[in-house]
Amino acid sequence: MAKSVTVRTFLNMKQAGEKIAMVTAYDYPTAKLLEEAGVHALLVGDSLGMVVQGQSTTVPVTLDDILYHTRMVTRAVTRPLVVADMPFLSNQISIETTLRNAGRLMQEGGAHAVKMEGGAELADTVHRLVQAGIPVMAHVGLTPQSVHALGGFAVQGRKLPEVERMLDAVTALEQSGAFAVVLEAVPAEVAEAITKRLTIPTIGIGAGAGCDGQVLVFHDMMGYTSGYIPKHNKQYATLASTIVQAAKSYVQDVATGQFPGPDQTVYLKPAERAELEPLLQPNH
Ligand code: KIV
Repeated sequence: MAKSVTVRTFLNMKQAGEKIAMVTAYDYPTAKLLEEAGVHALLVGDSLGMVVQGQSTTVPVTLDDILYHTRMVTRAVTRPLVVADMPFLSNQISIETTLRNAGRLMQEGGAHAVKMEGGAELADTVHRLVQAGIPVMAHVGLTPQSVHALGGFAVQGRKLPEVERMLDAVTALEQSGAFAVVLEAVPAEVAEAITKRLTIPTIGIGAGAGCDGQVLVFHDMMGYTSGYIPKHNKQYATLASTIVQAAKSYVQDVATGQFPGPDQTVYLKPAERAELEPLLQPNH
């Protein structure tokens, strides 16, 4: 069996110039398949609010939601690093609350690390969590939990003050002990400059090929959604049409009596049949 991926592996991969492949996972069977495929890290992202729960943003997702899904994922895998997302406000109220919430994701959920959206203002919180033994993945650029404050899901880092703020943030977060940083919806040139500046790996989503790794949302990359697909997505499968096609065949089979067939049916053994025969008669 291949060795487990740890935060140390992330650093070693950056140093060796090996790219990190991360995918979101929210349940047991999916996590198992992604492990089998050799994915290095699984993110139990609050994107589950949109792709699993059918919400229009990630804001309604709760810590208990993340915990519920993290348990399923960690139960399934031994090799990938499992990172649990800190949902809206779970890392904003106080350092103590953040510590308690992150601690639950690790202790009760079995996560190996947590991810937090936010900039330099989180540096002290990250430092405290790392001191307590909780590895933190930072997340800058487009931070979907702030969608209402940002005014939409737009690319971040096109203007000087914005980029300066982002550079200050990633520097502060690295110094505070974050082991990696997600760069979401950031122009490729900016993401590449950040990647070169940091010793910790950058994981891009809509941030170009210059990052140290990439992350995609499972439902988007597998074509398992009828909702909005972001421009940065690459679709590797067409699960939605496969499922619709299969379900149509099932409906048709039920209608025509093709299902269940003899292979899916249990029959009485001759002795059982003989004993029950009188009861099986329609006029009994
Ligand atoms: O919640 C999520 O899936 C994420 C990724 C898009 C990075 O935060």
